[in-house]
Amino acid sequence: MQGVRQRSTQWRVQTHGTAYRANSEPGIQRPERCVRVGFHSRNAARGTPEKKKNYFVELINPLVEQYAAAHTSPEDDLLLQINRETYASHAHATMLSGHVQGRALAMFSRMLCPKYVLEIGTFTGYSALCLAEGLQEDGELHTIELREEDTALSQNNFDKSIYKNKIHLHNGNALEIIPALQYNWDLVFIDADKVNYINYYEAVLPQLSESGLIIADNVLFHGQVLDNMLNKKNPAAIRAFNDHVAKDERVEQVLLTVRDGLLLIKKKKNA
Ligand SMILES: C[S@@+](CC[C@H](N)C(=O)[O-])C[C@H]1O[C@@H](n2cnc3c(N)ncnc32)[C@H](O)[C@@H]1O
Repeated sequence: MQGVRQRSTQWRVQTHGTAYRANSEPGIQRPERCVRVGFHSRNAARGTPEKKKNYFVELINPLVEQYAAAHTSPEDDLLLQINRETYASHAHATMLSGHVQGRALAMFSRMLCPKYVLEIGTFTGYSALCLAEGLQEDGELHTIELREEDTALSQNNFDKSIYKNKIHLHNGNALEIIPALQYNWDLVFIDADKVNYINYYEAVLPQLSESGLIIADNVLFHGQVLDNMLNKKNPAAIRAFNDHVAKDERVEQVLLTVRDGLLLIKKKKNA
């Protein structure tokens, strides 16, 4: 409990120059006007361009993250190995979906029992293997990765999996590859370059099956979506994407505050 108290006194939110100190009473509490974020770094967003660059928000109290992980089904051995190896050797390891989000993706896939799954942004293959868990017997998962090194790493991981014959890995630019894949997607996971999220969404929506689901990752972008004054290209692109979907009459959507934010999107009936 002591750890929780200490951390709660550090929590604060600064939006557009106004800082609110978090409630210092015991337990995880927050002031009325405070959104549920805390700065990862005390220097974050305090003005200078250098500090702005490091603006990073810890969205969920780490103790809550730990509690969620402890009460979520474990990863299988291969996923655990990919998770560990990626963190041990890859410079961009934090891009990996990870345990809790991976189990969420697997659960959505198991509930939908998709025949055709599309993933945009393979990285080391972790999320593709989670999404493959619900595939039908004759189902296919197509996953697209731009970087050759990550394509090779993920193929190596897929080769160790029971789903290897169902996974089709494409190396190249997703915007060029998607039009060549003529399938009715039952499940789409958008998790590549943020500036193209709207383009990916518009490219896959016409091919989404009636009961299909699009999941877009990082839609909170470390909390930077909250700061309209932060004119960085990735949070600006994610804000534009979230607004684009919210205004789109063809779909209904829900934004889940899992990890860095997952936006679930479904076509409306008769849309
Ligand atoms: C956030 S990572 C994906 C993480 C992975 N889905 C997971 O959860 O383990 C994004 C990946 O998209 C790839 N990428 C970036 N731009 C791309 C593009 N235009 N086409 C395909 N892949 C791209 C990056 O090289 C990177 O490996």
